[in-house]
Amino acid sequence: MTDLIHVTGGTPLNGRIRVRGAKNFVSKAMVASLLGDGPSELRNVPLIRDVEIVKGLLELHGVVVDHDREGGVLRMDSTAVDSAHVADIDAHAGSSRIPILLCGPLLHRLGEAFIPDLGGCHIGDRPINFHLDILRKFGAVVDKRPQGIHLTAPNGLRGTKIELPYPSVGATEQLLLTAVRAEGVTELSNAAIEPEIMDLINVLQKMGAIISVDTDRVIRIEGVKRLGGFRHTALGDRIEAASWASAALATRGDIFVEGATQPEMIAFLNTFRKVGGEFEVEDDGIRFYHPGGELSSIVLETDVHPGFMTDWQQPLVVALTQATGLSIVHETVYENRFGFTEALRGMGATIQVYRECLGGLECRFGQRNFHHSAVISGPTPLEAGEITVPDLRGGFSHLIAALAAKGTSTVHGIGLIDRGYENFTEKLAALGADFERP
Ligand code: EPU
Repeated sequence: MTDLIHVTGGTPLNGRIRVRGAKNFVSKAMVASLLGDGPSELRNVPLIRDVEIVKGLLELHGVVVDHDREGGVLRMDSTAVDSAHVADIDAHAGSSRIPILLCGPLLHRLGEAFIPDLGGCHIGDRPINFHLDILRKFGAVVDKRPQGIHLTAPNGLRGTKIELPYPSVGATEQLLLTAVRAEGVTELSNAAIEPEIMDLINVLQKMGAIISVDTDRVIRIEGVKRLGGFRHTALGDRIEAASWASAALATRGDIFVEGATQPEMIAFLNTFRKVGGEFEVEDDGIRFYHPGGELSSIVLETDVHPGFMTDWQQPLVVALTQATGLSIVHETVYENRFGFTEALRGMGATIQVYRECLGGLECRFGQRNFHHSAVISGPTPLEAGEITVPDLRGGFSHLIAALAAKGTSTVHGIGLIDRGYENFTEKLAALGADFERP
């Protein structure tokens, strides 16, 4: 298969598709398996490239992984965890940000860890300073070398008290994965409390960890000496669900997303309704549809949970190009997540990006020269274009734009979309999209 797709837009997407486990949880649960002495089993695992990448990383460290791809079951046995060769780990450099989360578990299991340069989507600087600060506070010694970062824990890892400067998802996970087996008590203030983090806490508790989530974003962990394996079914992917919901809205379609769940999507559903989309929550999923007539413009701010997720922003912006009036979107999680709008402008959308914090409160990116607010004026018909996918969610947004546009678009670099959207071309076919992936 080539890395491009030809999409002839204008057909509403109608039908039923299924989303499985959340990318941003499954990869972390896989890392958690490293902490256990016994075998673990993770169910509802999607067939996405990020899972393959983490599987490769675990195998490099001596974890025996058995993957029932169709059944979506991963069995991981971490009994014989071992150090990996630097060159092998390095081969994974640039492919994912997950390696940074291996630090705590590997320090516990082996007394050292080596982390290559990190990849991930280019949607901002994406530093790892919170991660390294946390590891240092536990007692790790961080040695930055040309090929990556080498960590040791000469005196073991000890519980500590930490306040995050910002409720970072990855840093909260870093802390959890390190604190559960550190000596003594750890207290984290200003923690992220995304549903994927709560599900990671479920997994760690099943393994034997003692973790409480208090009010006001405080997480307390009492370290234990050993952890066992776990059996767990991953929560559904609320980013993928919202992506398909936005595709339904932008193409005036009607999509039932099996596996979408309401509690994790409250903020999205409120916004979807304000824009003029309709939805019906069923036991096995949510139906999202365009009821006909005009869509309404909105003012929207992305935020950490329980706010409107940054990852929902990009697909929804495409639908907002079809809404009547001026919509304002203020991105407060990443400083640089509007790069994808350039291609939309090329397809006929009217979108201006601004450095100011528009439509809401001042965020930490105000006055700092980042284009992190967007004003979208609609409705504007979209014309076919030739586009190159910039990042995972931006890429899916371009796909939605192509599906909504008149004519045949060519979207390059769609391999990036495989990182986080399971079988998306099969799903497009099931929804009646007109496309060819040569
Ligand atoms: N940040 C720092 N220093 C750090 C870590 C983060 O300044 O050491 C900043 C980031 O630059 C960013 C903000 O904190 O501005 C939030 O980043 P966070 O750490 O919460 O993000 P992440 O853990 O790197 C995960 C998801 C992202 C998702 C964010 C926010 C995974 C693998 N990735 O990233 O998902 O956008 O949380 O919910 O879980 C995606 O799926 O497409 C994706 C990018």
